Amino acid sequence: MDLSPWMLNRAASNHQLRCPDAALSWLLADGVHHQPSCAANLLICLGAEWIWHDLGGTARALRDRGSSGSTLVVGAGRRHDAADPATLPGRIDCSADQRAQLTALGLRVDAELRPDDQDWDRYLGRCAAAVRSWAHDGDSCAGKRWQHAYDEWLAARDNDRGIMAWSVWVTTVL
Ligand SMILES: C[S@@+](CC[C@H](N)C(=O)[O-])C[C@H]1O[C@@H](n2cnc3c(N)ncnc32)[C@H](O)[C@@H]1O
Repeated sequence: MDLSPWMLNRAASNHQLRCPDAALSWLLADGVHHQPSCAANLLICLGAEWIWHDLGGTARALRDRGSSGSTLVVGAGRRHDAADPATLPGRIDCSADQRAQLTALGLRVDAELRPDDQDWDRYLGRCAAAVRSWAHDGDSCAGKRWQHAYDEWLAARDNDRGIMAWSVWVTTVL
């Protein structure tokens, strides 16, 4: 599920390569109020935790769409290991804070995947390709809007390099 046709097309085009036996449906839709027709056994939110305001809100929303034993995966920004919290203007949760938050929500943490700075740069490269495709497909209004959003995002990334990093948490609903 995604609001972006480009993101959905890209994921769907990897289906045969990455998971040919999986029966998948692709939804171009808003995830905020979406309720699966039955409790899901796998729930994933990668890179969109602001939809439910933060890591805790997202983990809670996903948990409530699953049931005991469901696997829940959520990726979210966190404080970079190299950042000194005393030099930061505000509080940014570190890896240990995130782990504690998830545990307090009744989730067992099975793994923490820690993409490095180069992984993040590669990801932004893919976002740049998405923006180019909007412009290329002739929707100049959307193209300009996404180019502007991307430029802002890139500037924030450059500003926060060394402060923000990323973790993907793989958990089980207890
Ligand atoms: C940082 S990208 C992550 C995309 C993809 N999950 C991945 O990991 O490569 C965030 C995605 O959230 C989508 N998004 C934002 N708000 C959404 C919403 N309310 N419902 C569904 N998708 C949303 C955007 O279109 C965008 O593709």
